Amino acid sequence: MPLVATARIAVLPSAVADQIAAGEVVERPSSVVKELMENALDAGATAIDLAIEDGGRQSIRISDDGGGMSRDDAVMSLERHATSKIRTAHDLVGVRSFGFRGEALAAICSVSQLEIETAPDDGAGTLVRAAGGGVLDVTDIARRRGTTVRVARLFYNAPARLKFLRGARSEGRAILDVIGTVALTRRDVRITFTHDARPGLTLPVAASLRDRLAAIHGGAFAGRLLDVDDVSGTTHISGLVERPADAGTSTRRTFLSVNGRAVRDTGIVRAAEAAYRSTIPGGVRPTLFLDVVVAADMVDVNVHPAKAEVRFRDRWQVERAVEEAVRRALGTFDAGPTFGRLVWTTVPTPAPEPVSVDVESLRASQPTEGLFDTTLHSDAEPASLAESPPESAATPADFEVPPLIQLQRTYLMFQHDHGVVLIDQHSAHERVLYEQFMRTLEGGTQPSQRLLFPMTLHLGPAESEAFEVNRSWFEQLGFEIEGFGGHTLLVRAVPLPHPRFDPERCLRETLAALTGDRDSGTHARHEKLAATVACKAAIKAGDALSPGEMRALYIALRDTTLPAHDVHGRATIVQLTWDEIERRFGRR
Ligand SMILES: Nc1ncnc2c1ncn2[C@@H]1O[C@H](COP(=O)(O)OP(=O)(O)OP(=O)(O)O)[C@@H](O)[C@H]1O
Ligand SMILES: [Mg+2]
Repeated sequence: MPLVATARIAVLPSAVADQIAAGEVVERPSSVVKELMENALDAGATAIDLAIEDGGRQSIRISDDGGGMSRDDAVMSLERHATSKIRTAHDLVGVRSFGFRGEALAAICSVSQLEIETAPDDGAGTLVRAAGGGVLDVTDIARRRGTTVRVARLFYNAPARLKFLRGARSEGRAILDVIGTVALTRRDVRITFTHDARPGLTLPVAASLRDRLAAIHGGAFAGRLLDVDDVSGTTHISGLVERPADAGTSTRRTFLSVNGRAVRDTGIVRAAEAAYRSTIPGGVRPTLFLDVVVAADMVDVNVHPAKAEVRFRDRWQVERAVEEAVRRALGTFDAGPTFGRLVWTTVPTPAPEPVSVDVESLRASQPTEGLFDTTLHSDAEPASLAESPPESAATPADFEVPPLIQLQRTYLMFQHDHGVVLIDQHSAHERVLYEQFMRTLEGGTQPSQRLLFPMTLHLGPAESEAFEVNRSWFEQLGFEIEGFGGHTLLVRAVPLPHPRFDPERCLRETLAALTGDRDSGTHARHEKLAATVACKAAIKAGDALSPGEMRALYIALRDTTLPAHDVHGRATIVQLTWDEIERRFGRR
């Protein structure tokens, strides 16, 4: 029998309607904690103490030292749509308080037993007791300025919701997450938390995001993060992000605030992650803590029932600013907060004008100090180390290049004002080549070297397919290759990243790495190709470098966009400060 036949429309009793509405605001104990903490902050609290029992399922108590409420306001605060924070719809534009709906206390009250103890400055305190949405009694009490809200037996009258609560540990963890998030938005407030009378968290007032993070997750964690701080037009992006080398090594954490409000926003997170492209493997997600501040009228905060999302007027502009800010942070060579800063200017180099290269005429050109640039050697003898003495290679950057020493045939070392720096020669060269190849693939050409004797390469079917798929790009990179029937290739010319370059090995390994990948987008495939060829073509650990080659590598690395990381996210540069050295020697 269809139900519809007997249906009659009836307005729900208000208690039921309120419970349904409450479902949007109060999902679980942690949502109560979020709303009550935000109320405390809106009231101007400088300290918030939280205590929960049984994961918040038995009780949640939160005390603040904010402005408190008069007796009338305390009663009124439990009404739906009762708020002191806005008066007209116009006030919603650029609203600064966390609250503005006048919903939270009414919603919480409709599904719990609730007590509010509050007193404004004058000290005339009030205790309001309510349950299931109805006020039970109101009494005068004595208390100091501030408010204490106690929420007991959440969902006692909503069995369907009660059933969905998780165990005390899991609800407790969700509460801790919420506190952590609120604590990151308001570092100027002292926060304490106990669970079943056991201390859970003590957060003193923090001067910076890094200090607050240290109090929540430990100093070692906070100390490893890189500072983000960038202004683009009226948009200010600041925060802390993970070094590429650390990404994926521990639990990933993300935090995003927009104009001081913690929100979720996959678009912004994705933009920040895009800044890591080419420094960490695909699929690895970095830890990010970002504060985005935009002009108040550029964002609408009233688009989500729990205010967990916002809407931007110009999302694209914000995302671009975020990506740029994070990229800049990653590009800044900064070995950590305790280290002095060694800044390598990391202004992105513009893509060079595409030049068409006539291989034959280039063959006739003079050899130059071309280890790490794209100039050619005139003869096909690969082993000649074309290098000129320092004084004759008059690049404008010369005077800035410090004397370099090679250690273990693997690292370059130099000193500067703040300490000693080690560069991993392979990682560094890989970064240089990667960026060079990317520029070439995205619209340029690469000079190549014609081989005296063409090289014949026999490939398996998968490798030949990978070659066919990527053929034009290999040509752009400077390979001149002909099919020779079947799975055989005839290689006539190759790029020349350095004299020890082994083109056969590079081609074979690159093709092997590229097999089976034809579905990703062009840019992603460019990145993969450039990263693979760069890795295979770069000088290796164990290659002895001449002074000229070391200088060329130093200059080329300094001119990259992200000098501090190789394409796998490992560090290319490590520095030891004089402070650290003096400490080790017991001089301080
Ligand atoms: N801890 C507190 N100290 C002082 N006043 C408070 C406190 N908590 C609530 N209030 C008062 O009660 C009112 C209602 O609070 P409630 O959280 O229900 O709504 P809101 O904060 O205005 O909006 P929203 O529903 O968006 O949170 C607030 O506007 C505020 O005036
Ligand atoms: Mg509120």
